[in-house]
Amino acid sequence: PAQGLMDSFGRRATDLRISLIDKCNLRCTYCMPAEGLPWLKKDQLMTPDEIRRLVRLAVETLGIRELRLTGGEPLVRADLLEIISGLRADHPDLPIAMTTNAIGLEKKAQALADAGLSRINVSLDSLHRETFAQLTRRDSLDKVLTGVEAAAQAGLTPLKINAVLMRGINDREAPELLAWSLEQGYELRFIEQMPLDGEENWKREGTVSAAETRELLSQRFRLVPSQENRDGAPAERFDVYEPHGGDKDDDDKHDAGAHGAGTFLGRVGVIASVTEPFCADCRRTRITAEGRVMSCLFSNEEFDLMHILRDPEATDADVAQRWAEAMWVKPAAHGTDRPGFELESFHRPGRSMSAIGG
Ligand code: GTP
Ligand code: 5AD
Ligand code: SF4
Repeated sequence: PAQGLMDSFGRRATDLRISLIDKCNLRCTYCMPAEGLPWLKKDQLMTPDEIRRLVRLAVETLGIRELRLTGGEPLVRADLLEIISGLRADHPDLPIAMTTNAIGLEKKAQALADAGLSRINVSLDSLHRETFAQLTRRDSLDKVLTGVEAAAQAGLTPLKINAVLMRGINDREAPELLAWSLEQGYELRFIEQMPLDGEENWKREGTVSAAETRELLSQRFRLVPSQENRDGAPAERFDVYEPHGGDKDDDDKHDAGAHGAGTFLGRVGVIASVTEPFCADCRRTRITAEGRVMSCLFSNEEFDLMHILRDPEATDADVAQRWAEAMWVKPAAHGTDRPGFELESFHRPGRSMSAIGG
């Protein structure tokens, strides 16, 4: 369709996110229940060829310009390298990013880069072994840290870190996470917890808001809203400076630029999905691991493409048309910021984040 993936509010999806698998080797409390979920069987997952076909028609006929591979945990898929090299062979210039927990990257990062992966975003909520284990229910911090390092070495950059702050668990660690990320040269983004946990334990009061996050960070840093155009991205970016008045002996390091004295340290992002949603500028379309279109993280209606992909009579045009229909009815917004919004009246999507991909 000449219109591409347009919805009834005039938004056009140009970013495609494909979940490769619903399984994960962590159990982040904001995402999945401790016991896991009933996993998809192997023959329910899209094959490398099916993924390749979808991306080809998305890029060639539907206006997709960027691809992100998600999970569950995409590194859990044994044929990940085959998937990436196939996509890269078809699309030499397509940005292909991946969201991952980094476990296993120590061994796989270089091969992934060689296969054509452009960059990664790593989910990492704490640098303390016990807090990490409490949040993810697995004692895997060391593996994550070595994985991140290997990815940076392999050039999977700019490398971004995603952190979800949980009240009373890792919220006070926010400045330390930022200090570490700045030092390592990673771009950290804090994500407000959304009601997409498998256990439905989400509470508004439990959500550490973007405003609180900025407050926590200002104990140690000075944040100045970035001048760069946000252009539909979930993250609002800030330039990070040393606080005023610190480090008096070190005057030569200070630049008295547009924002007053203080050394520029790098950038940080805040993704205010709950309190300051960015739905009006959304340009994302999602495909779940079993081949269904989700027009929004919070959409209840899923449009199956798999039966079309596996129908020998069906053409690319049939797939594209179904996809376009799914996107046309994309909801205006999820509404978690509306006053009076109550979880009881809120229609959750029928899946947890792990089965959507983030
Ligand atoms: P880049 O900035 O291009 O690296 O990508 P990104 O920010 O889309 O990457 P990532 O997948 O790491 O997304 C970060 C998080 O933002 C996701 O895990 C979600 O929690 C949140 N997010 C992304 N897209 C949406 C969206 O459409 N709606 C909402 N509410 N949250 C989103
Ligand atoms: N709210 C916000 N972000 C979440 N993620 C997983 N579950 C949630 C949630 N309930 C994030 C993870 C990861 C990405 C895939 O999604 O931190 O970075
Ligand atoms: Fe796994 Fe990511 Fe969910 Fe954590 S947030 S359990 S790393 S899929």
